[in-house]
Amino acid sequence: MSENKYGEVIISREQIQQRVRELGAQITKDYEGKKLLLVGILNGCVYFMTDLSREIDLMLQIDFMVVSSYGASTKTSGVVKIVKDLNRSIEGYDVLLVEDIIDSGLTLSYLKEYLSARNPNSIKIVTLIDKPEGRKIDIKADYVGFNVPNEFIIGYGLDYAENYRNLKDVLIIKPELI
Ligand code: IMP
Ligand code: MG
Repeated sequence: MSENKYGEVIISREQIQQRVRELGAQITKDYEGKKLLLVGILNGCVYFMTDLSREIDLMLQIDFMVVSSYGASTKTSGVVKIVKDLNRSIEGYDVLLVEDIIDSGLTLSYLKEYLSARNPNSIKIVTLIDKPEGRKIDIKADYVGFNVPNEFIIGYGLDYAENYRNLKDVLIIKPELI
């Protein structure tokens, strides 16, 4: 695929748009008649959350959490800290966690457990990108946009040290930028 000054495009904006539509249609079917609450994990989820939520043709609610695990490194620290929690009840709601990417799985496995204690009706995961080779804990997303190899990627919400989130495509970052 095409190369630009930040790296090699591995998922184009057109592919993202198409796949987000498909995920939205699937979620619309699966959550018909349920009390859907999308919980986005900031900051990575922003672009995916806004696009995906508008492709779901149902009455739904949105909320956000902020967790930190990475810092300015490309490897997970394994430590998950809740920086901003939900300030609402999720009891009886069908919670769908919205993530940009699952790598080690530590963040989502921790969050799923943490939120399960608050008696939601159900709790599932949608991730735009999955890096299955990076897994350190056994967790699967219920909806996956794309599988990618074990490379550090940026764009469409994904950052390196908080930069590059606003790129329209998903790219493998150029080594000289790290
Ligand atoms: P996990 O706990 O290892 O699954 O990490 C999930 C978080 O790590 C994501 O929300 C991202 O913020 C970050 N992350 C993992 N891999 C990448 C990557 O390739 N690019 C950018 N961020 C990543
Ligand atoms: Mg991040």
